[in-house]
Amino acid sequence: MAEDNAVVLRLEAVQKQYESADRDPVPVLKGITLTVRHGDSIAIVGPSGSGKSTLLNILGSLDSPTRGSIQLDGQELAHLSEQELASIRNKKIGFIFQSHHLLPQCSVLENVLVPTLAETGKATTGAVERAKRLLDRVGLGHRLTHRPAQLSGGECQRAAVVRALINQPSLILADEPTGALDHSTATSLANLLVELNRDDRVTLIVVTHSVELASQMGATHQLQDGAFTSTDA
Ligand SMILES: Nc1ncnc2c1ncn2[C@@H]1O[C@H](COP(=O)(O)OP(=O)(O)OP(=O)(O)O)[C@@H](O)[C@H]1O
Ligand SMILES: [Mg+2]
Repeated sequence: MAEDNAVVLRLEAVQKQYESADRDPVPVLKGITLTVRHGDSIAIVGPSGSGKSTLLNILGSLDSPTRGSIQLDGQELAHLSEQELASIRNKKIGFIFQSHHLLPQCSVLENVLVPTLAETGKATTGAVERAKRLLDRVGLGHRLTHRPAQLSGGECQRAAVVRALINQPSLILADEPTGALDHSTATSLANLLVELNRDDRVTLIVVTHSVELASQMGATHQLQDGAFTSTDA
């Protein structure tokens, strides 16, 4: 595992505009510079439409910037093939999206195991045990064979969190992970993320509207119209 203080992510002057043939380009990110070190916990806050999800997708190499440089563990993402990026994403990054993106035809347990199938197509006993343990920890131990349509919105989100953790990523990118949850479920999910950061030194970047969750992070970056307006360490 990387040492504390090692730079995990380095963004320099990152700009993003969405282009389309029939509309003017939409400029979203206007020059983001950010250094994230191993073991950091960072909240990204800002109004709706300010570019938070766009930034998170770019941090996780799901989207590429229009201009600027992004390095993950010292590697310039623009220099990597789509296949190399997919492998890095699978091994190093756990994504928790704004909507859960669970596969409707699969059970909770199967959904959680999807990221472990990339290598051999089959989940190991260890992965199944870990999945069950984590599902238990988020209160879904009794829902292993349910499909997403048979779960509440909050339960789907909790299953998606476990899916993000299953490969023991060194970096978790979470987009409003507690947005759809009631207060007590949100608190226990926030606690799980905080524990992973504190105890396992997982680097955590969380987009959130929750002041409570943001206050538990080591630093908060405020995004406004595609630029950081303030940074509180
Ligand atoms: N594919 C796209 N094509 C064109 N414009 C887009 C696209 N995706 C996002 N946008 C625009 O980019 C801006 C930033 O979107 P983004 O989803 O990053 O905002 P956000 O800060 O995550 O908002 P929210 O808090 O509502 O989730 C918005 O104005 C949105 O309309
Ligand atoms: Mg968003």
